[in-house]
Amino acid sequence: MRRIAIAVAASTMTLSLAGCGVLDATGDGASASPTKGDDVTIGLLLPEKANTRYDKFDYPIIKNKVAELTHKKGKVEYANADADAARQAGQLQQMIDDKVDVILLDAVDSHAIAGQVKKAKDAGIPVIAYDRLAEGPIDAYISFDNELVGEVQGRSLLEALGSNADTSDKVVMVNGSPTDPNAKQFKQGALSELNGKVTLADTFDTPDWKPENAQAEMTEAINKIGKNNIAGVYAANDGMAGGVIKALKAAGVTSLPPITGQDSELDAVQRVIGGEQYMSVYKSYPDEAEAAAQMAVTKVQGKDIQFDALTQDKVDSPTAKDIPSKLVQVSALTKDSIKDTVLADGIYTIGEICTPKYKAACAAIGLK
Ligand code: GAL
Repeated sequence: MRRIAIAVAASTMTLSLAGCGVLDATGDGASASPTKGDDVTIGLLLPEKANTRYDKFDYPIIKNKVAELTHKKGKVEYANADADAARQAGQLQQMIDDKVDVILLDAVDSHAIAGQVKKAKDAGIPVIAYDRLAEGPIDAYISFDNELVGEVQGRSLLEALGSNADTSDKVVMVNGSPTDPNAKQFKQGALSELNGKVTLADTFDTPDWKPENAQAEMTEAINKIGKNNIAGVYAANDGMAGGVIKALKAAGVTSLPPITGQDSELDAVQRVIGGEQYMSVYKSYPDEAEAAAQMAVTKVQGKDIQFDALTQDKVDSPTAKDIPSKLVQVSALTKDSIKDTVLADGIYTIGEICTPKYKAACAAIGLK
């Protein structure tokens, strides 16, 4: 909890608009006619557990922020679908039955959930798409700039391949789940950097983002391309980068090619320091999660001016146009930027990262 408290404090500083009151949901100024007081219930539906971000950051940060915005009177009802779209549909139904005031939805399957979104809407419950753009009549969307995530990954991979990179370099692409619209955007962003510069020797879309599925795909790619002919691997997130590394090691590869990732999970940050993974993408979970909590609370409290100030971007989904949105920026995490990202934001401490196994590697890059 201490870690989250630090993270929350750090990001409150970065959300500078909140400091001058424009986005302050607890401020009295901008509320036209609040429909609800502080006793709000926010339903939070998160997609999976294989990736550590959801239970470790998204949920606790949202919960703390809702408490802060509602003088500790607001509640968060949380359900995690464990990568099961049908289970998530049931969880959403439960929230409709429980008459929560607003739903934050991070969809397992953004298309399949559209019918449930409509049901919530018909029951008078606003739905805000969280991180992944759910289809159906959603009220708003908060996410990172997902195309930028892919661009940062693609650019970093080229940088790792060095100035001699050319189309004889064979790259394997391990993308995320086909039911997650973000995965498509990560891929598009990465392809915009990689196309024409390297050869994409094998490409996969990985069911459920599961590390073990990524490992099986990588084993298939190694058998097809040859273990010594792989110049680099685009892995869309850290969990899958872990699976890719297992497959390469199991095939007897001793000098690993550059491998990308995303999420700055603790293991991945350690792998970056130890030289097994070239990079990850740092996404400030406090920036995303706190803005989501603010959007949800201002929405149910009818604080329209603040809600509009929070959602100045516009995006389209396959079923809706001009969805009020907020897209948060991201940056690359490499050996050189650990201090400015996960450490600066208090996501991890040096003690957590630089365990005995990584002490020497940490010292070599000035982390002690
Ligand atoms: C994406 C999300 C990533 C990662 C991935 C795997 O939608 O943006 O941060 O968590 O899912 O769950």
